[in-house]
Amino acid sequence: MQLSQADIGTFERDGFLFFPDVFTAAEVALLAEEAGRIFERDRKEIWREKSGAPRTAFAAHTYNEGFRRLGAHPRLIRPVEQVFGEKLYMHQFKINAKAAFDGDVWQWHQDYGTWLRDDGMPEPRAMNISVFLDEVMPINGPLMLIPKSHRHGTLAAGHDLETTSYPLWTLEKDVVTRLVAEGGITAPTGKPGAVLMFHGNLVHGSAGNITPYPRKIVYLTLNAISNYIRKPTRPEWIAHRDFSPIEPAPDDALLQYARTRRAAA
Ligand code: SIN
Ligand code: MN
Repeated sequence: MQLSQADIGTFERDGFLFFPDVFTAAEVALLAEEAGRIFERDRKEIWREKSGAPRTAFAAHTYNEGFRRLGAHPRLIRPVEQVFGEKLYMHQFKINAKAAFDGDVWQWHQDYGTWLRDDGMPEPRAMNISVFLDEVMPINGPLMLIPKSHRHGTLAAGHDLETTSYPLWTLEKDVVTRLVAEGGITAPTGKPGAVLMFHGNLVHGSAGNITPYPRKIVYLTLNAISNYIRKPTRPEWIAHRDFSPIEPAPDDALLQYARTRRAAA
């Protein structure tokens, strides 16, 4: 996937780009199935909501072949290389479950706020690029973005250790109100296989999911290699220390893997 000049202009203006149709149903079906199995496991990398429902599975690209291939997929790596003009490494990789009935809120925040304060990342030259594994609907806790909010730099934030099971640097209500007055709120929705990329300073969050429809999204955080983290405080499976450049996989890497799996079954 190559970004056009118009895409790059839109990204600079709004802080995000949404592509409704990047991976086929066949490419994502296998990943959705494997994500379900990963969430059933008991490993330190898998965090649960206060209710016990799965919340986040970190670093699945290090222990699952399908997600390893997704983490090097050219349709995700190439456009981010284009924006930063250099090679990338994986700063963080997570599958967020937003489980049916029990998926909890993600408070309003900027990701670079955490990468800076907790990981010592010098600049907001890391990008979140996410792949929908389930259909994301207006009703099942879609990711909400405040367009243009990335232009305000890194905002003051408080470390919220209470609201959910996951510590987060969150923004005050009056700050969010001001940003929304300027940019509004948008919540991209779409089928499994849609891709969203957004700037590290773009303010975002999501509400709880009380529907019977799960909303699994994979997030790759791709960091420019020159921007490697200097003062990590979080475990290496949350903020990775392997700064070697990602070599993109072949475009059919996921289908090849699906074929291998079928042959082995
Ligand atoms: C995040 O902001 O890191 C995740 C939000 C979500 O998956 O809803
Ligand atoms: Mn975030």
